[in-house]
Amino acid sequence: MAQPDKKKIVIFASGSGSNAQRLMEYFEHHNSVRVVALFANNPKAYALKRAETFHVPAFLFNREDFYQSGKVLQQLQELNPDLIVLAGFLWLVPQNIVQAFPNKIVNIHPALLPEYGGKGMHGIHVHTAVVQAKAKESGITIHLVNEEYDKGDFVYQHRCPVHETDTPEELAARVLQLEHEHLPRVIEELALKQ
Ligand code: GAR
Repeated sequence: MAQPDKKKIVIFASGSGSNAQRLMEYFEHHNSVRVVALFANNPKAYALKRAETFHVPAFLFNREDFYQSGKVLQQLQELNPDLIVLAGFLWLVPQNIVQAFPNKIVNIHPALLPEYGGKGMHGIHVHTAVVQAKAKESGITIHLVNEEYDKGDFVYQHRCPVHETDTPEELAARVLQLEHEHLPRVIEELALKQ
C-alpha cells in the first residue's frame, strides 16, 4: 500500500537555533514528519550551521525579501509546508505570509503569555523583566501566530518556578531546558493534525 506523504515542517530562526536543532534531531528519522527547510534572517545565525549538519536546506533572507518583494512568501508556497515553526525568530511575520498559512504558523515564547510578550520582548529581555517583577513562576508558551507579536491563540504552556536568587541567565537556562523538552512533542502533535 502506498505510504502517505510525510508532514512538512519549515523552521524560522534568528540566532543560536538550539530549539531548531531539537526539532531537526527529533524528526530526523521520524516516520510521518520531516523538516524540509530552515529560514534565517541573519547570516551570522548559528542555526544555519546546525541546519547544514542535519542536511536541512537553509534559506537566508533579508528585510526586502520578507516584507517587500514577496520572495520568502513565494519560497514558502513552493515548499508548501504543513506547519511553520518560529523557533527563536525575532521579526514580525508580515500579513501576506500569515494569511497564506492560516493556523499553520506557531511561535515559541520563553514566558507565560500574555505577560512578558510583545515587541522587544525576546530572549534575555524577557527573563530580565520576569526577574525584575519578582514573579514566582515563568515558563514557555507555544502559540499560533497572527499579525501581532505574541498575540495568537495558545497551543501549550508549561510552568517552572522562578527562585528569589535567580539571575536572568539562570532563569533563561531553566526555561530553555523546558523548551527543548516540550517543543518537539507539541510540534509533532500539531503537524500530525494538519
Ligand atoms: C528561545 O528561548 C525562544 O523562546 C526565544 O528565543 C530563544 C531562542 O533560542 N524566542 C523569543 O524570545 C521570541 N519572542 P534558540 O535560538 O537557542 O532556539
